[in-house]
Amino acid sequence: MSNVRPETMARITTPELARAFIGEQVAAVRAQVGDRKVLLALSGGVDSSVVAALLIKAIGKQLVCVHVNHGLMRKGESEQVIEVFGKTLDANLIYVDATDRFLDLLAGVTDPETKRKIIGGEFIKVFDEEAAKLSGISFLAQGTIYPDILESDGVKAHHNVGGLPEDMQMELVEPVKLLYKDEVRVVGEALGLPHGMVYRQPFPGPGLGVRCLGAITRDRLHALREADAILREEFDRNGLAGKVWQYFIAVPAMKSVGVKDGKRYEGWPAIIRAVNTTDAMTATIEEIPYALLHHITDRITHEVAGINRVLLDLTPKPVGTIEWE
Ligand code: XMP
Repeated sequence: MSNVRPETMARITTPELARAFIGEQVAAVRAQVGDRKVLLALSGGVDSSVVAALLIKAIGKQLVCVHVNHGLMRKGESEQVIEVFGKTLDANLIYVDATDRFLDLLAGVTDPETKRKIIGGEFIKVFDEEAAKLSGISFLAQGTIYPDILESDGVKAHHNVGGLPEDMQMELVEPVKLLYKDEVRVVGEALGLPHGMVYRQPFPGPGLGVRCLGAITRDRLHALREADAILREEFDRNGLAGKVWQYFIAVPAMKSVGVKDGKRYEGWPAIIRAVNTTDAMTATIEEIPYALLHHITDRITHEVAGINRVLLDLTPKPVGTIEWE
């Protein structure tokens, strides 16, 4: 398949068009792969999930999915990968819980770029080790999408933690590389993936690592994950999940004094960030109803150990980037 999207290629907007695309790709993958084996790094993000579902349909157990849990996933994400791919779709799934490896390496590291490099580098190492344990793998599948190709000289290169070792000499299988994100989602739904997985908000490769500011500690990371889960749950319940482009919690490495049950209660602040954008180059702030903000504050401060304040970030991009890092 060429890397240029033909001008005649119709935008995939309906289940019918998605099914036609799936049919074509299933045939193409079978022709390319034959009876050989394919390896895929399955993060649980939209692109790799859709590729996994497509390849499972095309070649079943000839696909080997490796899901590396770097310990920086949001609450429930690795569990969902295991549930959907390991159980429902009965895929050949290797689950690697590398949490300790990542968190041990990150201990005491405060510089954001160094944190990113450690996470990206370790991801490749873990994946490489798993690949080395397998035999007879001929292909590497990737969730490359068309914007990745268009931007391949630009920003996203350093963005993708899924970037794999250059010396991995395998032919690539990239069935959605000519699709735009919205088309990948339509295809994902036609493949029967859960709506929440296919329409999930963007999540950076280094995960909560860029939102647990400064040196990551397990207790603060845990608090961040729990607070973030509450924010997501409340956005879901209140109709904001499908409307707001990206929303999350960041927790800085600082404490302030509070009071709980009549006692001094030092804790971290949870910072709410909820932004809208079309291309992530600039972003505006979502106006969250005050009643909901009060409710979220109440839940986070009561349910999450270690958090004693909730703050709202009102800064558009520029000048604030979307992530805090
Ligand atoms: P910033 O913070 O630069 O983020 O305004 C712009 C968008 O990019 C996302 N982001 C990433 N996405 N891998 C990704 O796939 C990454 O390493 C990464 N870092 C930031 C960020 O969440 C926002 O949507």
